[in-house]
Amino acid sequence: MTAATLAADPVVSAQRRLLGLHFLVGLGGIAVGLVSGALVALDRSGIALDPARFYQGLTLHGVSLVYVTALGFGGSFLSLSVMSALRCPLASRRLVQGSLAAAGVGAALLVAAVVLDRAAVSVTFSPPLDAGAVFYLGALLMVASVWAASANLIMTVRAWRRDHPRERLPLLAFASLVVLLAWDLATIGIGVELVVFLLPWSLGLTGTVDPLLDRILFWFTAPTHPSFFVLPAAVSWLVLLPHQLAAPRVRSTAVRAVLVAMMVLGVPGGLAAQAADPGVDENLKLLHVAFGLAGLVPLVATGWLVVSSLEERARRAGCVGAVGWLRMLPWRDPSAAAQLLAMTGFAVGSGLALVADSGTLGLLVRGTAYESGLLHLTMGAGLTLTVMGVAYWLVPHLTGHGLWGRRAALVQPWLWLVGSMVLTAGTTGAGLGGQPAGIPLSATAYADEAWQVWGAISAAGGALMGVAGVLFLAVMVGTLRTRTPATVEVPTGPEERSPAWLDRPGAWLVVAVAAAVVAYFPVFVTHNYELDVARFVGL
Ligand code: HEM
Repeated sequence: MTAATLAADPVVSAQRRLLGLHFLVGLGGIAVGLVSGALVALDRSGIALDPARFYQGLTLHGVSLVYVTALGFGGSFLSLSVMSALRCPLASRRLVQGSLAAAGVGAALLVAAVVLDRAAVSVTFSPPLDAGAVFYLGALLMVASVWAASANLIMTVRAWRRDHPRERLPLLAFASLVVLLAWDLATIGIGVELVVFLLPWSLGLTGTVDPLLDRILFWFTAPTHPSFFVLPAAVSWLVLLPHQLAAPRVRSTAVRAVLVAMMVLGVPGGLAAQAADPGVDENLKLLHVAFGLAGLVPLVATGWLVVSSLEERARRAGCVGAVGWLRMLPWRDPSAAAQLLAMTGFAVGSGLALVADSGTLGLLVRGTAYESGLLHLTMGAGLTLTVMGVAYWLVPHLTGHGLWGRRAALVQPWLWLVGSMVLTAGTTGAGLGGQPAGIPLSATAYADEAWQVWGAISAAGGALMGVAGVLFLAVMVGTLRTRTPATVEVPTGPEERSPAWLDRPGAWLVVAVAAAVVAYFPVFVTHNYELDVARFVGL
């Protein structure tokens, strides 16, 4: 199908509508995250909150931005990408509906559980704190929506291969499938934690939980700081952005190799996040630190590939000098500007993550506000600002409406990046001064005076992000309501033929599973199941 016949196809149109709604669920997570983020930032600005409300706000903030926005964005954006790349509808309409329903209901359950004061457990679930079955079911449904999207992409790619036996999978389809397969593998951890342990426990079917085992399963899913949740953003940076900017394409072979490396090295680094946990073998922690550091290589390669493509674009336009090409970047395109700034924030955040993930050095900052800080650059800027940048072309593409409020859309990414940098400066300073992550400063008896100053800086950064967030939501609402028509295509184009060994996502999944087994088999075999059960039933 051509782009025009694809757009006119009734099956494709119906699926696009459903995927557009799925994308909106993700954007809804940003709205809830902003309101709850404001609550948390109030505490940092010295306005005392009831500690119970603080923890409620912190939980709502974390789960809405991490589970609802990140997973909602990944499920919808990657499915739409495959549809555009293969120029055909997805194999199963039922799975598109199922994925949307799971994301919508899951998000509603998560928000309801926290708002009704049943769950104040932070984004990591923190057992043995009990968040109740509704919360756990909500989280499980969010993960299930990713599994449904992924099953659909597998079926779609298989059908496409049957019809195109001699062709390579187009790069955008390959990249999207690799990311969803990587998510399938990683979410086994959180899936087992919820289905086998937390849900039965919260329903009274089992008497106890094993917090250490649950932490191992959680960090299996979200291993080193930047990787797992940011993968869909990497697809946009590597595959779509160069086309959007009319820059030289990043070579298909290089993009495939980088994404495959992210998948293979994605899971086996979880214990790096547990450097301070007792009861985990120190040698295994070291092995995971090594895997985690190796996982930074494809991230650095991503930055290098994208930046060199952008620099070449500027040089071809006659730009000279070491940094002059930066001025030639398309800062007047809101979608491009948002993503360029997202990558900038992500790069700084990854530098901070390097410290947290590097074993003994990480012990200095693990569990402190430093970790919240770097999260606001890797996920807050890297992922969320990319979601916003993609929304600036995807929402016009899906609705046929022109982007409303262009000026606001141009200012917004700068405000967001500066805000997240200032917020991170505040939380990083507090963390280096020993402030634990996620505590209500106003109600903490042992709070150091210096923490108040860092708290005020965090609150100022949070306020800037809040203004930027409201601008973004206003642009989105305006775009949905405007009557100005526009035709925006998915920014893809022709590519060179890649080698056959980089055309098989399934084969690379097998390698990724093998790497996960090498890293985790000894962890599960040596875990002391007896000890933890005994400790938490009070023996
Ligand atoms: C208006 C924007 C935002 C404000 C005002 C804000 C503010 C805050 C504050 C003050 C904290 C507590 C930090 C500490 O430990 O001292 C926090 C935690 C956190 N924030 Fe944000 N943030 C914003 C945007 C974001 C974004 C876009 C993300 C993207 C994922 C994010 C993810 C998180 C996470 C995961 C936590 C830790 C939650 C937990 O411990 O359960 N935030 N935020």
